[in-house]
Amino acid sequence: MTEPPLQIVDRGPVRVITVHRPDKLNALDRATLSALHRAFDDAADAADVRVVVLTGTGPKAFVAGADIAEMSDLSPADAREFSLLGQRMMRRVERMPKPVIAMVNGFALGGGLELAMCCHLRIAADTAKLGLPEVTLGLIPGFGGSQRLLRLAGRAAALELCLLGAPVDAARALQLGIVNRAVPAAELETETMRLAERLAGQAPLAMRGILDVVAVGGECAIDEALEYESAQFGLVFSTEDAREGTRAFLERRKPVFRNR
Ligand code: COA
Repeated sequence: MTEPPLQIVDRGPVRVITVHRPDKLNALDRATLSALHRAFDDAADAADVRVVVLTGTGPKAFVAGADIAEMSDLSPADAREFSLLGQRMMRRVERMPKPVIAMVNGFALGGGLELAMCCHLRIAADTAKLGLPEVTLGLIPGFGGSQRLLRLAGRAAALELCLLGAPVDAARALQLGIVNRAVPAAELETETMRLAERLAGQAPLAMRGILDVVAVGGECAIDEALEYESAQFGLVFSTEDAREGTRAFLERRKPVFRNR
C-alpha cells in the first residue's frame, strides 16, 4: 500500500509536519510538494496551531532533495513548471503567519536544504549534512536555494556551496549562519519542542507582525522597510495582546495572550 507523503500530528499548539517517504530519503516529488503546500495552508488556517515544526522521517534524512527519478527526463518546460511548483510551496512556508521551525535530523540536500531555508528557524542535529549538490548532477538549485542561501549566508557561502556541491556538517552550517542551532542528535527533538513551546507562549499577533516585517523588509530598501515597520508597529497597538503585554509588565505579572 502506498504510504502518504506526510504525517501530521498536533502536540498541543505545535503542529509537527513530517515528510514521510523513508524509502526515498524523503525526496520531494510533485505529490509531496503539493501535499506540503496544502499542509501549510491548513496550518495557517488552524486557529489552535501557533507554531509549526517541519521534519523528515529519520534518522537518516531530513529531505535528500528533489526527487531525482522524477526529474531525470523532464523537458525544459516541465522542469520550469517543477521549479515553480517547489518555489510556490516554499514561498508559502516562508510567508506563513506563524513561526515554522525546520528540525534538520539528517541529510538536508538540494530541495531539502531549500526547504529548511524557507523555514523561519533551523535547528540541526550534529550528525546532519547540509548542501546544494545540484551541480554534481549537472543542474542548478531550482526551489529558491541559490537566492535564499545568498540572502541568509552571503555571496561567498552561496557560491561555495552551489559551485562545489559538497555538503557541510551542522557545526560549519552554524558558523555560516545557515542554521540557528546545532545540537546532539539525541537531543534534537527535545530541544526543538522546547523552542517551539516557548514560541507558542508568545503573543501570536506580535509574532505574525515580526515575520511580516522581516520578510518584507528583507526585500526592499531601508527607508521603505522602516516605513513599513512603523505602519506595522501602529497596527499591533490595535490588538488586545499589546495592551495585555504592556499592562502585565507594569503590574509585575505574567501576560496572558489571547491572540486578539
Ligand atoms: N531523489 C530520489 N531518490 C533519492 C534521492 C533523491 N534526491 N535521494 C535518495 N534517494 C533514494 C535512492 O535512490 C535510494 O532508493 P532505492 O533504494 O530505491 O535505490 C534510497 O533513496 C536510499 O538512498 P541511497 O543513495 O541508497 O542512500 P545512501 O545512504 O547510500 O546515500 C545520500 C545517501 C543522501 C548521500 C544519497 O542518497 C544522495 O546523494 N542522494 C541525492 C542527493 C542529491 O543530489 N540531492 C539533490 C537533488 S537535486
